[in-house]
Amino acid sequence: MKVVTLLNEKGGVGKTTLAHAIACGLAIRGHRVLAVDGDPQANLTMGFGQSPSPAFYDLIVREAPFNETLLYIDAENYKVPSEDVKGFVYLIPSNKETRTISQNTDNVLAVRQRLTELEDEIDVVVFDTSPTPSLLHASIYLATDYLLFPVELEYYSFAGLGSSIGHRNGFSRQKKSLGLGDIEVMGIIPNKYRPNTLEHQENLEKLQAQFKGLVWQVLPQRIIWSEAAARKRSVFNYAPDSAATEDAWQIVKNVERVLQRV
Ligand SMILES: Nc1ncnc2c1ncn2[C@@H]1O[C@H](COP(=O)(O)OP(=O)(O)OP(=O)(O)O)[C@@H](O)[C@H]1O
Ligand SMILES: [Mg+2]
Repeated sequence: MKVVTLLNEKGGVGKTTLAHAIACGLAIRGHRVLAVDGDPQANLTMGFGQSPSPAFYDLIVREAPFNETLLYIDAENYKVPSEDVKGFVYLIPSNKETRTISQNTDNVLAVRQRLTELEDEIDVVVFDTSPTPSLLHASIYLATDYLLFPVELEYYSFAGLGSSIGHRNGFSRQKKSLGLGDIEVMGIIPNKYRPNTLEHQENLEKLQAQFKGLVWQVLPQRIIWSEAAARKRSVFNYAPDSAATEDAWQIVKNVERVLQRV
């Protein structure tokens, strides 16, 4: 089991959109996926067509069993139409109580310990996180193997990336010192790219100069993403032949490639 966490301490950069697409894409391709909504805004929960609930809080604070907190996601709204799904997605939903998790547990390893119980049942955990750094982020970092950073090619998004990477370095050291392995930066995804915008082109070049091979192919701004989200469907399901979906497959395959390296 590997844990992939979408992170950026800047709002609206595409963490939830990509967590949803990656979870669905990996499931379509045969992986056993657990999506965890680590954000009190519960956007990932709603994106899967589910009602916000305190499942994540219950799992960590009340130590509730998984059969009370996991939701099986029907593939109807995420599969490629007329194709079978080879894997599956379970979801741990969130609601505003997620915000109080860190106040109600003093075990910073609780998230990691609970997920480890699913070691034999799940191949990939995909974590969505909130843009607001909190003590909960510390627990999520310590449960994470790989970080994926969506960024917008705007000045403030870069600031969010800088502080997120700074935190990653600190938590990675802490995780290693506990004998729990590294937290690897899987990639940086320049999202909502508009090729005709000079600022975007310049910022993309700066990003590539600073982070080199970690910067993945740009994900252009395309209306399909918000249309699919509004319908609570994956892009694979909503517009299987669109350019946005082609981009999404590329990202899913990149994730797979990194996961298969180990
Ligand atoms: N490539 C894209 N093209 C067009 N719209 C996009 C793209 N990526 C994301 N969006 C839209 O941008 C908005 C913000 O995306 P999203 O909610 O995934 O960001 P987030 O980082 O999770 O935000 P928050 O920090 O508030 O949780 C959504 O309406 C989403 O549909
Ligand atoms: Mg979000």
